[in-house]
Amino acid sequence: MQFTIAIDGPAAAGKGTISRAIAQHLGAAHLDTGLLYRAVGMKTGDPVEIARTLSAQDLAREGLRTVAAGEAASRVAVNPQVRAALVAFQRDFARREGGAVLDGRDIGTVICPQAEVKLFVTASPETRAMRRWQETGEGSYDEVLEQVRIRDARDMERADAPLRPAEDAVVLDTTDLSIEQAIAQAQAVIAERLGRV
Ligand code: DC
Repeated sequence: MQFTIAIDGPAAAGKGTISRAIAQHLGAAHLDTGLLYRAVGMKTGDPVEIARTLSAQDLAREGLRTVAAGEAASRVAVNPQVRAALVAFQRDFARREGGAVLDGRDIGTVICPQAEVKLFVTASPETRAMRRWQETGEGSYDEVLEQVRIRDARDMERADAPLRPAEDAVVLDTTDLSIEQAIAQAQAVIAERLGRV
């Protein structure tokens, strides 16, 4: 069976955790597309050339989960040529036999507009900053909140593939939800759309 589940949303809204749980539950493959931009952002050289020649090995490098890598990713992600160079990899992944879950910013809008299920996972900036701060232990809460706001603005205001929910996406606000509740709600939407649990 072939299906694509697109899970988009801002940084630290819970989309990674939800995507991994959903993929595991369905026995589907999972691609964290933020890793592509993080890997490009952390390499030195021409980002367009790096994006064109990116390999699966590059995605397994250490240090890609840091705050610095997220910042570098957000900066190279405004470049339309970098984005274009990463499209084929993501679309190939989405067509995998057995189903695919992709999480990112533009999966439902640009990469896989035909996805069977689209979720837009969000939460208040304060909640996301608190989660990120507790998770990484880097800097102060106020600094992390400021970084979250700057990243949101850059991701939402860029001209090419800005962060926004697709028209047919189901919005899941996780501000007042536990991880278990958020996963359960996502699973309910997916079961309804795919016609199976
Ligand atoms: O999801 P993340 O925090 O790993 O993403 C890091 C940055 O990469 C994000 O701020 C913007 C960019 N990105 C993107 O532009 N499109 C995607 N599909 C995924 C990430």
